[in-house]
Order: sequence, then C-alpha cells, then structure tokens
Amino acid sequence: MPKITYVVPDGSNHVVDVPVGQSVMDGSVRNNLPGIVAECGGSCSCATCHVHVDEEFAALFGEVTDEEKELLEYAEDVCDRSRLSCQLIVTADCEGARVSVPDSNG
Ligand code: FES
Repeated sequence: MPKITYVVPDGSNHVVDVPVGQSVMDGSVRNNLPGIVAECGGSCSCATCHVHVDEEFAALFGEVTDEEKELLEYAEDVCDRSRLSCQLIVTADCEGARVSVPDSNG
C-alpha cells in the first residue's frame, strides 16, 4: 500500500498507508489528520480539501480538471502546486508522495 506523507498545518509530518484507488483526501480523513476538512465528502464542490503537492510528485496525479481549477479560485493560499486532494487518486506509483495542507481549509 503506498505511503503518503501529509505535512499538516502545525508543520508535523504524518505518514499514512493509503490503499490504491482511494484519494489523498480519504487517507487524511480516515486517519483523523487535521487540516483537510472535506466538507462535501469528495464530490469536488467545496475546496476544503486543498493541498499543495510536492513538485516531484505532481505528475503522478494527472491534470487539474476545469471543475477543480474553478473551485481552487475560491481557496486561500493557492499556488501552482495546489490541488483538491479528493481528486488525487492514489496509484501504486504514489509511494512516498508528499502533500502539505495549508492552514486555511476550515
Ligand atoms: Fe470537497 Fe474535495 S472534499 S472538494
């Protein structure tokens, strides 16, 4: 099972096993990590699952969809590595991927 590292808003790192096929958001919520609120439950309509994906892992998760891009316009602390973690589906290649959770998702 791929291990994903989450850097949560207090700066601490949490390494979580996330099953292939689940989202990066699922991995955080199922392990009760702080920062990813995921108000809409993963249906790409809230932007409270915003993360910054470390550059070296960005290509693993495919392109940003138009829907995701529009929602990110409403998020704070957006940068060119911003993604909605509910749209980041974990594959076997994601082993070791790292995301940072901004302190503005609530
Ligand atoms: Fe709502 Fe990702 S959980 S957009």
